[in-house]
This record gives sequence, C-alpha cells and structure tokens, in this order.
Amino acid sequence: MEKQIVVSGIRATGELHIGNYFGAMRNFVTLQDEFKCYFFIADWHSLTTEEDAEALKVHILPIVKDYLAVGLDPQKCTLFAQSSVPEIAELALLLSMVQPKTELEGLPTWKEKEASQKEAGKIVSAGLFFYPVLMAADILIQKATIIPVGKDQLPHLEFTRDVARRFNNRYGFTFPACDALEGRAIKVPGLDGTEKMGKTEGNAIDLVETPEGVAQKLSVAVTDTNRKLRQDPGNPYICNIFALHELLSTPEMVEQIKTDCQTAAIGCVECKKMLGNNINKFLAPLQERRQAISDDYARQILSDGGKKARITARQTLNEVRDKMGLPDLKGE
Ligand code: TRP
Ligand code: SF4
Repeated sequence: MEKQIVVSGIRATGELHIGNYFGAMRNFVTLQDEFKCYFFIADWHSLTTEEDAEALKVHILPIVKDYLAVGLDPQKCTLFAQSSVPEIAELALLLSMVQPKTELEGLPTWKEKEASQKEAGKIVSAGLFFYPVLMAADILIQKATIIPVGKDQLPHLEFTRDVARRFNNRYGFTFPACDALEGRAIKVPGLDGTEKMGKTEGNAIDLVETPEGVAQKLSVAVTDTNRKLRQDPGNPYICNIFALHELLSTPEMVEQIKTDCQTAAIGCVECKKMLGNNINKFLAPLQERRQAISDDYARQILSDGGKKARITARQTLNEVRDKMGLPDLKGE
C-alpha cells in the first residue's frame, strides 16, 4: 500500500523552545517513520506579517538545525523552504479562482490576524488575507491527507477541504480530503503560570538555553500561588512547574514530588532545581548534535529537500493546469 502523505509548515519566527518540542517537533520525528512526510519552513507565510527581511533570513537556518538536532532525518522526510517550491504559489493562484472571496473574509483566523496587525500598528497585507489559500496550496500540491497541526489551525484545514472539494467538483477528482492529526500534540504550559509556552509571551525555555539561563528562568517562574510560605502545602495540579516535571522527569520523581509538594516536604526552590537538572539533561545531547551542524550543511539539506518537493509539486501542478485548460509545461 502507498504510504499516506503528511505535510506540515513550520513558522519561521525565532528560537524554538521546549513547548515546540513537545507540541510538534517530537510528533514530526515519529511521523517520518510511518508516512511520506514533507516538512517545510513557511517563509512566505512569515512574510505575511514580518516586515523585517533580516529577521526572516536570520531565522531559517537555526530552525532547520533545531529540527535536524531533534531527529528529523533527511533520508526519511523532505525538509525544505516553502519559497523554494514556486509551484505552490502558482497552485495558490489557480485555487483562488474557485474560491469565493466571502469565505476568506468569514474565517475567524483572518479576523483575529487582521485585528492583531492593526493593534500592532502594522500593515494588513493582501498576502495575509490570502494566507489560507496559500496554506491550502501547501497541502494540496503534495496531495497530503494527514496534517499535524494545533487546534488553532483547524479552520484552515476545513477551508482546505472546501477548496479541494470545489476544485474537484468543477474539474474532476484531483485532491484527496485532508485531516488534522492533533491527537499526539501536548500543550506545554508557560513559566509565567499561563496555559501555553510561547516565544512571544517570553515564558519559554529555548532549545538552545544554557544551564544558567534555565536556572535563571526557573527561579522567577510562577508556581502554586497559594503556596506563600515554605511550610504551606502546595497543589501540584495547578502548578506549571509540576506539569513540566511530568514531561521531563522520571515517573518515580513525579510521584515523589506530588506527595512532597502536598505535604510541604519539599520547597519550590528545590523542586525547581530538580526540574532544571532534568531540563539540562534533556537539552545537552540535543545541543551537542545541533553544534555539530554547520550552516552549509543546513543549507544543503534545505536545497536538496526543495528539489525533491518540486518533483511531486510539478506533477500536481501539471495535472491541475491540464484540467483547467492551461497550456502544457511538462517539457520545460
Ligand atoms: N499556518 C500554520 C501555522 O501557523 C503553518 C502552516 C503553513 C501549515 N502551511 C501549512 C501547517 C500547511 C500545516 C500545513 O502553524
Ligand atoms: Fe509547584 Fe513544586 Fe512548588 Fe509544588 S513544590 S508548588 S509542584 S514548584
């Protein structure tokens, strides 16, 4: 049986952190063994909100290195930059011809993004409005059926299925329906006591964090706020430090901390120290592998991946051009 096809885009916005690791990167690493996977740095998507060209340039290679360091294997999956597959842009243009504009306007993600750009005093680009069509093209160009994304992206997948259905109805079956793969994603809470670790919130531990950085960030991290004095018993279930222990510490240690916190046998300072040690143990081998990856190597991987992704992309695009009555480009 043919392997199912997986596509997912990685936003090119700054250092990746342990929230990204447990939320998405780790899934990608397991998916590459089971499916035909295309993972790409969504550099065009970043341009929809990023005005700073230098910032974008700076971010791509570190992200590639992070992904290679956590175990993406270029022999098993295709890793590339979106912009190195121009077929995606052409497909997006062609898909936009079957897509009513009103539905783009109605997407909740559009309304949110538009509002946040305005609030930040930034331009609301036509590219931002077009984002969902481009995302549909990212997926449909590879005829992917499995899309590992977070909950926030579900409206975009629904939109992708709609576009595919419309195209199929008008021109004959071309695109399979895709589904989100959400199940294995884990939400990692932030150091500030909030629900989600995120780069922009400044509540994250980066994958490149030094032991000193880890200690510093943990020292000011929020715990069970009701636990004011050392002798007060704590409630681990509402403490983000405990949630991080559950991800990074052994089951025995997690059990011990749970009891010791509830009986005040352990203080938060000590509890954080134990977590810090485990974070460092987790990050050290990853950072070592990352160190060994040169810029040139990362660039080479991206370039090879781009070439590979273009082969299948061209096939789909030719099929679409054909069905839409556009001249054949196959020989070129
Ligand atoms: N929109 C996604 C995000 O913000 C990134 C993305 C772009 C994507 N194209 C994609 C994800 C295609 C899955 C498939 O996270
Ligand atoms: Fe949280 Fe640990 Fe403090 Fe309990 S002891 S409140 S789990 S940091």
